[in-house]
Amino acid sequence: MAGERTTTVNGILGWLDQRMPVVDFWNKHLAQYYAPKSFNIWYYFGSLAILVLVNQIVTGIWLTMHYKPSAAEAFGSVEYIMRDVPWGWLIRYLHSTGASFFFIVVYLHMFRGLMYGSYQKPRELVWVLGMLIFLALMAEAFLGYVLPWGQMSFWGAQVIVSLFGAIPVVGEGLVQWIQGDYLPSDATINRFFALHVVALPISLLLLVVLHLGALHEVGSNNPDGVDIKKKKDAQGVPLDGIPFHPYYTVKDLFGVGVFLTLFAFVIFFEPTFGDLFLEYDNFAPADPMVTPAHIKPVWYFTPYYAMLRAIPDKLMGVIVMGAAVSILFLIPWLDRSPVRSIRYRGPLTKIALTLFTVAFVTLGYLGLQAGSELQKLVAQICTLIYFLFFLLMPVYTKIDAVKPVPDRVTMHD
Ligand code: HEM
Repeated sequence: MAGERTTTVNGILGWLDQRMPVVDFWNKHLAQYYAPKSFNIWYYFGSLAILVLVNQIVTGIWLTMHYKPSAAEAFGSVEYIMRDVPWGWLIRYLHSTGASFFFIVVYLHMFRGLMYGSYQKPRELVWVLGMLIFLALMAEAFLGYVLPWGQMSFWGAQVIVSLFGAIPVVGEGLVQWIQGDYLPSDATINRFFALHVVALPISLLLLVVLHLGALHEVGSNNPDGVDIKKKKDAQGVPLDGIPFHPYYTVKDLFGVGVFLTLFAFVIFFEPTFGDLFLEYDNFAPADPMVTPAHIKPVWYFTPYYAMLRAIPDKLMGVIVMGAAVSILFLIPWLDRSPVRSIRYRGPLTKIALTLFTVAFVTLGYLGLQAGSELQKLVAQICTLIYFLFFLLMPVYTKIDAVKPVPDRVTMHD
């Protein structure tokens, strides 16, 4: 009969299970979710991203208890959290340093996807949902950075929101509509606060649920890019699959331990990480009359910021920056290779991915610099390499020599 349970349990759990299929859910997504047995270090970052998301939400709730979303009080309320609220400094650093760790984890998670072709059929939707998460995360981080209302909050908001002004006809109106004023102001903080603490966290949570739902429908990829569902035993269990729980829950807990050690080390000894995780200029209150000597975004935006600055025309710069992020959505359809993993791909794809990575990291570095003529030229070359990686992908992935992919996953000591 439709809806009938495949498992029976007694007691309170049984009562609950009759009314809501918790046991089926547990089995489907954990105890009987068969993941490839060959997950390596790169597979830690998905669960770590969940951990950081939870950290951001919990510490965010506590920050909200003391933060005041107004131009007059925001900066002071953050200083109050840092100095007077018991453990307030820790909550704040867990959140601000947490934002940088979120991007470290997510960038590595995305890079894993690029290396192992995890976006290829049938996981296109997993990738597209991941990209929507990435967009929401960038918006969330930008809005959050404005809230302490320091110098960089104000001038960062000014630079980024004014980019919309480059759009012909509607640009000017759009800038005022977003800010609710002629410049970033009290109205801006208020609405950014609403979006940062309610709208975007809800969207992020929803997208993560969909991301995992889509992944569990088709199953996880692995470092070999082998389809483990092709080889099953008599019970229909993939020969190369192991139950996610307890095997990967325990393995991921180890990853959590290592991660928390590193995270704690940075929080306790170098929470601002030089000028990288919290910029020095942001420890001075916002002043619309004093422009900081060097306005730059936080490190996780600098690859895209460097592209923006490399293009002399403002509108073209905005288009290039938008295209740089958007083009990532298309990668499942740009890649024509018959194999997934980098392990079995030929030299062309390996060279392309290496050049792309070097260009992206270089852009990240250049975005932090003042921007001399030479730096601008290097940024232009790196932007070109970035786009060629995608635009030439249908060609080099198709003509590249590939190695035979094994039938079963391979294990390395
Ligand atoms: C809040 C952010 C995110 C969370 C919490 C998250 C969570 C996860 C988790 C738990 C997994 C399964 C474990 C693993 O394979 O590591 C996963 C897989 C995956 N994620 Fe994400 N993810 C996030 C962002 C992204 C982004 C930004 C992308 C790419 C644009 C992405 C693409 C993928 C892909 C392609 C897989 C399948 C990997 C495979 O099977 O090899 N995710 N994600």
